Amino acid sequence: MAFLELQQVGYTYPGWPPVMQGVDWSLPEGEFHCLVGRSGCGKTTWLKLAAGLLRPDHGTLRLQGQAVQGPTPSMGFVFQSPTLLDWLSVLDNVLLPIRLHRAVQPKDVEQAQSLLAQMGLSTWLHQSPARLSGGQQSRVAIARALVTQPALLLMDEPFAALDAMTREDLQWELAQLCRARKTSVLFVTHDMTEAVYLADRVAVMSEGRVVGNVAIDLPRPRRQAVRYSPDFNDLCAQLRARMEDRC
Ligand SMILES: Nc1ncnc2c1ncn2[C@@H]1O[C@H](COP(=O)(O)OP(=O)(O)O)[C@@H](O)[C@H]1O
Ligand SMILES: [Mg+2]
Repeated sequence: MAFLELQQVGYTYPGWPPVMQGVDWSLPEGEFHCLVGRSGCGKTTWLKLAAGLLRPDHGTLRLQGQAVQGPTPSMGFVFQSPTLLDWLSVLDNVLLPIRLHRAVQPKDVEQAQSLLAQMGLSTWLHQSPARLSGGQQSRVAIARALVTQPALLLMDEPFAALDAMTREDLQWELAQLCRARKTSVLFVTHDMTEAVYLADRVAVMSEGRVVGNVAIDLPRPRRQAVRYSPDFNDLCAQLRARMEDRC
């Protein structure tokens, strides 16, 4: 059984032309899938449907066999901007999703500290996030999304505003964390190299439809050097061709 399954999903914002049409997709448990496509092709809408923030008006969308009714604690989100609260410490920002549901336990604090340590932020636990760089703030947002140990992580262009080297470091860290935790991930990007580096499989979207379904069979762990390999470049070229076919 697929972990997240879309069958013939369609969505239309009231009063506008359809933004998703006839989308079939299957995310097996523990896999990392990327959605790529030009701006406006429907990537964020897909993520909102997967999160239960929007309901499909055609087709079905199931998480672990159940129709998605709304966001649940088994989902984590990371958006393009880290959206941290400057008046809370880094540690308290990471613990916030737990605090919104129940009292924080010592094991939660350990979990948050461990995530922040894995991202090189141990010395910043008690500082305000306002003092952190953009890359460090993105790491805090990832730790915050993972602290509840979500089975599904939904990420919407989380690294788009970062410089290239920081982005590559974060891609490595994210891939390692998700692999270790067997988290299933749906990651939106418009950057084809980011998709090839991170994904097990890539959905290429154009005008609300899936126009390409490309398996990325590069071995893991993927060191930074993989980016310069012929296989990597071939896969990037394949994605680009799928996108350009439709323009
Ligand atoms: N709330 C909304 N109401 C009407 N149209 C919307 C709304 N949100 C997005 N759209 C439109 O839906 C299309 C897909 O948007 P979106 O899913 O945000 O694309 P992407 O994330 O790929 O850039 C775009 O044409 C956008 O203008
Ligand atoms: Mg978007």
